[in-house]
Amino acid sequence: MNLAIIGGGPGGYVAAIRASQLGADVTLIEKDAIGGTCLNVGCIPTKSLIHSADLYHAIIHEAASNGISVGEVSADFDAMQKRKAKIVKKLVSGVSGLMSANRITVVKGSAKFQSASLIKATTAEGSLEIPFDKAIIASGSVPSSLPIPGADLEGVVESTGALSLEAVPASMCVIGGGVIGVEMAHIYCRLGTKITIVEMLPDILMTQDAEVVAPLKKVLKADKTDILLETKVNRIEKAENGLTVHVTAPDGSESSVTAEKVLMCVGRRPATENLGLDEIGIATERRRILVDAHYRTSVESIYAIGDCIGGIMLAHVASAEGVCAAEHCMGLEPSLQMDIVPSCIYTSPELSGVGLTEKEALTRGLDIAVGVFPLMGNGKSLILGDTTGLVKYIADKNTHKILGLHMCGPNATELIVEGALAISKKATVEDILSVIHAHPTVGESLQEAAHSVFGNCFHMPPRR
Ligand code: NAI
Repeated sequence: MNLAIIGGGPGGYVAAIRASQLGADVTLIEKDAIGGTCLNVGCIPTKSLIHSADLYHAIIHEAASNGISVGEVSADFDAMQKRKAKIVKKLVSGVSGLMSANRITVVKGSAKFQSASLIKATTAEGSLEIPFDKAIIASGSVPSSLPIPGADLEGVVESTGALSLEAVPASMCVIGGGVIGVEMAHIYCRLGTKITIVEMLPDILMTQDAEVVAPLKKVLKADKTDILLETKVNRIEKAENGLTVHVTAPDGSESSVTAEKVLMCVGRRPATENLGLDEIGIATERRRILVDAHYRTSVESIYAIGDCIGGIMLAHVASAEGVCAAEHCMGLEPSLQMDIVPSCIYTSPELSGVGLTEKEALTRGLDIAVGVFPLMGNGKSLILGDTTGLVKYIADKNTHKILGLHMCGPNATELIVEGALAISKKATVEDILSVIHAHPTVGESLQEAAHSVFGNCFHMPPRR
């Protein structure tokens, strides 16, 4: 089986490894660096800068209370950027090594379909014909922009630009209070940038459970981040010391935010141009490639996975879909539980969620029971110096089946796997209670939140 894969991000390279494990001869075509957006200009570099910014903040704000004296503390942004680049380089070379170890042929070039069994790759050396029995498109996504005057002015950056700034800006207007907006706001405000987030919806991070977003908003505000909600961006103009973003407030009044940099992060769109999709009859809808339950496109020999098919644009979703598509190509019948996708936001405190939010459950008319445990009652959170958050279980009121888990607090992004496993195994609140959770851990607050569904927490006074 000759399998061609377009795109070497976490969707494409994982699909390539899986197909190779199952015996396929795999050729992976990537026009930039292997690792895609996630490794090069997304998840990994962002989290590296978040770690540096949080460490800087912790040294300033927590060293003394932990009995540690430090001299003058300063942030060397250039060194933070170098550390980030080193981590990216190490991971990219690790993935390249995995390609060789799995006997995957990597072609550096731009791929375009010629037919349902042939790809032409344009490389630095010329063009190359790659015949295939099956192909998987994993071409990812690119940042969206707003069609407003001034969106292309110098100083307006999207996430890639925001990750490679040469210096910490004095001020930044972040357009879009989604995941990228909030994570970038977190990095730069902790390094001293005055941040203003402009969001058109009634809240930031609208896909998360509102109750776990609230503590993070408090922290952002304590870090002097301004959040303008239900605010419409009209245009961006050059100003003397940067850029002015003209907005309309919820009451209809016009105002403006002037900042050194403007970060545009209003979502991403599938990267499906110049692949020759129309020419060979692959159906798309508003740029996203349409697929069936097995990730097959309208051309039977060609599959598509990850951000290029729209839906939940997350690296771990792309990898899971890549495994499914590779296995189906190789004659297996894999299945994916696409309603159980953990989402993680790497701020401090961290946010995570899986399954239904309280609002989603109520909108569906479900009869639910909710258990909430505030981390102020959790010893390990107190030790870690972060008790602002909470853990929240959503369960079916009658069967006690777990429907959702949402968290804000230390290690929330690591702990969410308990909720994912619980929902996937159709566990009940009693199942969570029957498992001994280690002490002292932040994790034991998950069991406390489960107790709270029945109003029986151990480390909170009884509810009256
Ligand atoms: P997003 O979809 O998370 O958020 C975009 C935000 O922009 C929304 O809140 C939206 O209401 C707002 N918006 C849209 N138009 C606007 C306008 N005209 N004025 C003001 N606000 C406006 O998209 P984002 O943050 O750009 O992230 C892109 C993708 O990358 C997402 O799919 C996200 O899940 C993924 N990502 C995931 C991360 C993680 O899992 N930790 C980290 C970074 C990105």
